[in-house]
Formats: sequence, structure tokens, C-alpha cells
Amino acid sequence: MSFRDRPRILVTGGTGFIGSHTVVDLVEQGFEPVLVDDLSNSERSVLDGLEAICGRRLELHEIDCRDRAALDRVLREAGPIAGVIHFAAAKAVGESQRRPLHYYSNNLGSLLTLVEAMIEHGVRDLVFSSSCTVYGQPGQLPVTEDTPLAEPASVYGATKQIGERILRDVVASGASLRVTLLRYFNPIGAHPSARIGELPLGDPQNLVPIILQSAAGLRGPIRIFGDDWNTPDGTCIRDYIHVLDLAAAHVKSLEWMARQAEGSLIEVFNVGTGRGRSVQEALDAFERATGRRVEREVGPRRPGDIEQIFAACEKAERTLGWKATRSIEEAMRDAWAWQEALGRR
Ligand code: UD1
Repeated sequence: MSFRDRPRILVTGGTGFIGSHTVVDLVEQGFEPVLVDDLSNSERSVLDGLEAICGRRLELHEIDCRDRAALDRVLREAGPIAGVIHFAAAKAVGESQRRPLHYYSNNLGSLLTLVEAMIEHGVRDLVFSSSCTVYGQPGQLPVTEDTPLAEPASVYGATKQIGERILRDVVASGASLRVTLLRYFNPIGAHPSARIGELPLGDPQNLVPIILQSAAGLRGPIRIFGDDWNTPDGTCIRDYIHVLDLAAAHVKSLEWMARQAEGSLIEVFNVGTGRGRSVQEALDAFERATGRRVEREVGPRRPGDIEQIFAACEKAERTLGWKATRSIEEAMRDAWAWQEALGRR
């Protein structure tokens, strides 16, 4: 089948970190991704990496999803769209506290505009990027999809909770939409070809991009945010998942929705590995996987951090037939190969 005959999937935020890896999985599974991105937190050069992996140039529409006229144009001209994966959003927790209006406008404005456009153009299936941040610090671990949501700890977290709520309300109103909400845990790693990965635009705030820069000698020792938490080694615990495993969950969600009966639905899934690792364990995994040493120092706790969270992922396995398969070492090795490729650019 020519790629022109494949089901076309609109991927907003398609040149971003998770978006670009999902695009690769879509192509491998027989879909034709149509990328939308305003390039506010990515680069056009991501298309070169995607071309090297996928063997052809993919279509990118450089638009802001809040621009309804531009979105209408894409939906009209890109051929019949079988489904949408909506990644496009700002995601820095600290920045969201300094720029609340930007976060509410960008993250919620783009969702509202997109859903209105989907309904008008008769596009029914949507995968929405949510986050484990909606749980806050859960009382019981691992967290299941039924764990009660916490009061949002950041504006970023609020945009994810409100985004989920908006979609539930639209589906409840009888709109002809099928929605999968994916709550991501901590995505790390890169494509093993080292052609795409997480672009360190600005000053990275997340653990693995900081480890990579530290190991590459681009910054000093890594500062561990507190070793006095109530965990076995005193450092915070998270559920780190290879970005390719996370990517696969999106494609499985689209395939699952397409198999469902007509009518509307909304379902939520945790997307993690089910294993919690401390900051020290993540650093050890990096050193084991790459043979590189990372200098560590212990600093104060970071405001807003929670002590520990990791996912129960049985629902996704049972329903979507999806499960994470890659190890944290594999993720660290792939991330490091990407960092080295960046250094050669
Ligand atoms: C946070 C959000 C998540 C959001 C993600 C994207 C929560 C619970 N999680 O993830 O929803 O999608 O940001 O930006 O709000 N660490 C250090 N030193 C560092 C950097 C990090 O010790 O220099 C530690 C942190 O304290 C944390 C772990 O590493 O325990 C992971 O941090 P990070 O990568 O920033 O992710 P989260 O805070 O878990």
C-alpha cells in the first residue's frame, strides 16, 4: 500500500520530543502522520532526523493550534484525517508558575480550538497527552487510573486536569468523539538511531537532559534535589519510561478506538513501566549503561516536588494490549547516543 493510501493521523506537536518518536511509530505501524507544530519548542531540523529514519520527508504544517482558520485549512487540505494525537502544549512546571496566562491560553486554547475543528470536520478519534502530575502525591502506590486526583500543584498541572475535564464534558454532551487520555509518567531516552531525541532548547529542567549535559562536560555536577525524603535512599522516586514505549501507547490507543463500536467514549490510561526508581538509581543506571561517571552533589529539595510516584499499568495492558518493554539502561544508552550526536553537529 502506498503511503498515500494509509490512514492519515494529525499529530499536533509532531516535532516535539514525544511527538517525533510517536511519528516514527505511526509510520512503522502503517499510518501516515501529518505534523502540526508552531516550532516554539522544537526545530524544523527534526524533519531531517525523521526523514533519515522513515525514508521520506513528512508533511509539516507550521501553525499554532489556536489559529482556527489555519487548522481548518490543514483539515481540509491534508486529505481525510482518521484521528488526532494532540501533544502541542507547553510543559515546564516552573515556567507555568511565572506565565500562567500563557499556559492557560496555549494549552487550553489549542485543545478547545482543535476539538471544535474536529467536530466540525467529522474527525472522531483523539489521543490526549495528560500527565501523572494530575495525581499529586498519592496516598497509595502504585497509582491506578481510579486514584483520586489532587489539587493541581502547578499551572501546568492545572492545564492537564482541566484538559481532561473539558474532554469528559464534551463526550458527556453526546458529541461524536472517541477520546483516550494518556497519563504519562517520566519519558526519557531517544530513538536508537540517535537521529531524533529531546532538544535541549533553553536551560533543561528535567533530570535526564541535565544528566546528559553534566556527563558531556557542558555543566558541573548534577545536583540531587534532597536526600532526606522518606524513601529507601532518601531521594525522590519516579517511573522513567523509554520514549519509544510511550510512543507505542499512542498508536495502540488509535488502533483500539478504531475497533470500538460507533458512538462516543472516553477512557484514561496510565503510561509508565510500573517500576519506581530513585534519583540515585537513575544515575546508577546511566553510569552502568554508558560507562560514564556523573559527579553528584546533594542540594535542597525543589519546591513543588513530590516524594514518589509510579504507575499501575495493568489497565493499558488489558485493554490496549500495550506494555513497556525497554529497560532504563536502554533508555539511558539511547539518550547518551543522542547527546553525543548533538555534540557532533
Ligand atoms: C515533572 C512533572 C511532570 C511533567 C514533567 C515535565 C510532577 C510530579 N511531574 O516531572 O508531570 O510532565 O515535569 O517537565 O509534577 N531531579 C534532581 N536534580 C535535577 C533535576 C531533577 O534531583 O537537577 C529530580 C527531581 O527532584 C525528581 C526527578 O529528578 O525527583 C525527576 O525530575 P524531572 O525530570 O524534573 O521530572 P518530574 O519533576 O518528575
